[in-house]
Amino acid sequence: MASSKFPARALDIIAFFPLMTNSITYSGLNRKICLAPMMDYTDRHFRYLMRLISKRMLLYTEMVHCGAILFGDRDRFLAFDSIEEPVSIQLGGNDPKQLAECAKIAEDYGYSEVNLNVGCPSDRVQSGQFGACLMANPQLVAECVAAMQAIVSIPVTVKNRIGIDKHTDYDFLYQFVTPIAQAGCTTFIVHARKAWLQGLSPKQNREIPPLEYEKVYRLKQDFPGLNIIINGGITDYEQIDVHLQHVDGVMIGRKAYDDPYYWRDIDHRYFGIPRTDISREIFVKQYADYIQSQLSNDVYLKHMARHILNMFAGQPGAKVWRRFLSENINNRSSGIEIIEQAMDLQLKQCA
Ligand SMILES: Cc1cc2nc3c(=O)[nH]c(=O)nc-3n(C[C@H](O)[C@H](O)[C@H](O)COP(=O)(O)O)c2cc1C
Repeated sequence: MASSKFPARALDIIAFFPLMTNSITYSGLNRKICLAPMMDYTDRHFRYLMRLISKRMLLYTEMVHCGAILFGDRDRFLAFDSIEEPVSIQLGGNDPKQLAECAKIAEDYGYSEVNLNVGCPSDRVQSGQFGACLMANPQLVAECVAAMQAIVSIPVTVKNRIGIDKHTDYDFLYQFVTPIAQAGCTTFIVHARKAWLQGLSPKQNREIPPLEYEKVYRLKQDFPGLNIIINGGITDYEQIDVHLQHVDGVMIGRKAYDDPYYWRDIDHRYFGIPRTDISREIFVKQYADYIQSQLSNDVYLKHMARHILNMFAGQPGAKVWRRFLSENINNRSSGIEIIEQAMDLQLKQCA
């Protein structure tokens, strides 16, 4: 038997070489901690920031509609920095052929997973008959998943709600998952709220229907072979620890955007990497280097700097930092000096 000083399994190799993780393409994606897809928020710039904070969490893009990929400016929707890897792309659509085509294009761009949106309740999405309303048509979702899986070698996953409208019983969720799992989907990310398709805005649909974590736990019990990732209302490590006793992973949305620095311990707590005590200022500095490089590619400062408005959340000087940035990043000619000036102001408040 060939002897090696290195661990044999792919995931062990990743654990052994933590700094190499981003450059390895591997099918055994670790979804223990995921960043939620959030339209207008989890663009490539925010994902870059989160990758500075955690080398290991799996990052999801905003939902990208198939039409944007097939008929729009593809690079604008799909290009990303390799430091972000692994990244999962979330697709919106309901046409198996188009979804398959987009999944293949996404795979070629270097995405590590394709996720299908079956949770968005917005009017616009409903009028296109995709998103959460697809929960009423699990057979079609199964067809979409099967078509994508047939053409790509990266995993195809689904993000769904626990129910829609009057379909609130657990059996509805069970019946939804069954044919899709039979079609070969092994990972479901479940936002533990139902969606009201009429009468509530997307924002209200993230707040008003109650969280029902027990249903997601039950799904894992009934389908122990599936990867079940829980999402909705998760705001601290203690909650994560509880969820991980029941399911395979957690997905964090708003709390990641509202307080990105809070999550700096993820790699240590959940991936066994030695704790690094990187300050907010250092992350800002690292992100500023990225901003600088993107400015020279003609990216506006505001598209990048808006993502660090919450970097000092809860800290002295947070208000000054936010206000100064908000007032000064919108000018087309604004450069990196705005970040430096904001840092100076923030530091003075702490002195
Ligand atoms: C501004 C915003 C945009 C969102 N956009 C998407 C999206 O594009 N696709 C999706 O599946 N979910 C989207 N969501 C829902 C989140 O992925 C997540 O399911 C929800 O916010 C609950 O998680 P949280 O309580 O951790 O925020 C969005 C949420 C927010 C706040």
